[in-house]
Amino acid sequence: MPNLSIIGLQWGDEGKGKVVDYVSDGFQAVSRFSGGSNAAHTVVIGEEKHTFHLLPSGALKGKELLIGAGVALDPAVLAEELSVLPDARAKLMVDGRCTLVTPLDKELDSVVEGIRGDFAIGTTLRGIGPSYAARALRLSPRVIDLFEGFDFAAMARFYEKLSVYAGSLLGWAEESGALLDGLVGNVGARVMQINEMGGSVLFERSQGTLLDLTHGSYPYVTSSNTSASHVPAAMGIPSSAAGPALGVVKCYTTRGGGGPFPTEIKDSVAEGIRTAGNEFGEAAKPSRVGWLDLVALKYAVDLNGIKEIALSKLDVMSQVREFKACVAYKWQGTETTDFQSSLGHLGSVEPVYESPLSLRGANFEAGLPKEGKKLVDYLEKSLNVRVRLASYGEGRSETAEL
Ligand code: IMP
Ligand code: MG
Repeated sequence: MPNLSIIGLQWGDEGKGKVVDYVSDGFQAVSRFSGGSNAAHTVVIGEEKHTFHLLPSGALKGKELLIGAGVALDPAVLAEELSVLPDARAKLMVDGRCTLVTPLDKELDSVVEGIRGDFAIGTTLRGIGPSYAARALRLSPRVIDLFEGFDFAAMARFYEKLSVYAGSLLGWAEESGALLDGLVGNVGARVMQINEMGGSVLFERSQGTLLDLTHGSYPYVTSSNTSASHVPAAMGIPSSAAGPALGVVKCYTTRGGGGPFPTEIKDSVAEGIRTAGNEFGEAAKPSRVGWLDLVALKYAVDLNGIKEIALSKLDVMSQVREFKACVAYKWQGTETTDFQSSLGHLGSVEPVYESPLSLRGANFEAGLPKEGKKLVDYLEKSLNVRVRLASYGEGRSETAEL
């Protein structure tokens, strides 16, 4: 069995945590490859609900857990998650090349958001952007540097210049080093070793394709690359070893932060979907809600080379009067199916909708009902993909394999 990547095809919160947990059975290891603790992947087992910010969602299945070199690692979050799941420590390997998130990065995240004023991105304030920025400036420590007496002087002066308090980071470095002691390794080499021994690795990405730093709706994006082509680079494996990607699509759209959102719903229907789908992000902040956007999805399918998808949250649509899908954008009087890089374009297009079906009142008690199958067929035709999984609830049993 080849390695497999799980990639969100919208603006994040597609339901990747459940999909990773569901498909992880045959895999020896589950790995995060980039992004940081800005993620929140939820897995529900029976009465228990776990939200992972940094640990791969395979943690509940006793899988080997890998944190790849592309990840921005916040030791404080890792410490918290390991205190809840202490058994995970023995299964965990962290790449020495990971970028570290320091307390100063978190402060800078708020400072930069403040500077943006009306154009704030609505970041999670977890310090992920500043951490990657400091890495690109070659000021910040990597995980391995904690064990080699990293000199924080240049970094401290940088943050001082930005008027972000720059007290000593030595205490933080000592604590972080103690936490990570014994966990550090070459994660890319471990993946290749697992593959050589006949095992496979599941790569888990947080956020979604439309939040990709390069290919998403910049600047309203996250600070790293979220698409499938980034897997080998971030993991430190050859591209031939990455394997295919399974795209995760929610049957409507949400956006946690600011930025263009062509299919955003502005009336009370949004509130209904938000409540039914429990669409609340960091610190219970309500997410913006919109209809399914096939123009944006086609862009994401093509960018990632997606052949198979997992469709999520069908049950939510059973509580909504209608179902709409955007099949084109209208711009200056003409229709287009181009998802452009221009913010001016994306911010002012009018969605062209069709309502090919309704899931209103659909009953999921005995599995996927005919209305759900109709939606599956519709998506397969519209996006030229195969729908492999349809999820209609938080639990593992509320999943149809197709
Ligand atoms: P950052 O990643 O915290 O810098 O936030 C940048 C943008 O990505 C904001 O619009 C966030 O709402 C969004 N974002 C970051 N992480 C997630 C996530 O896990 N789900 C959904 N949106 C996210
Ligand atoms: Mg999430």
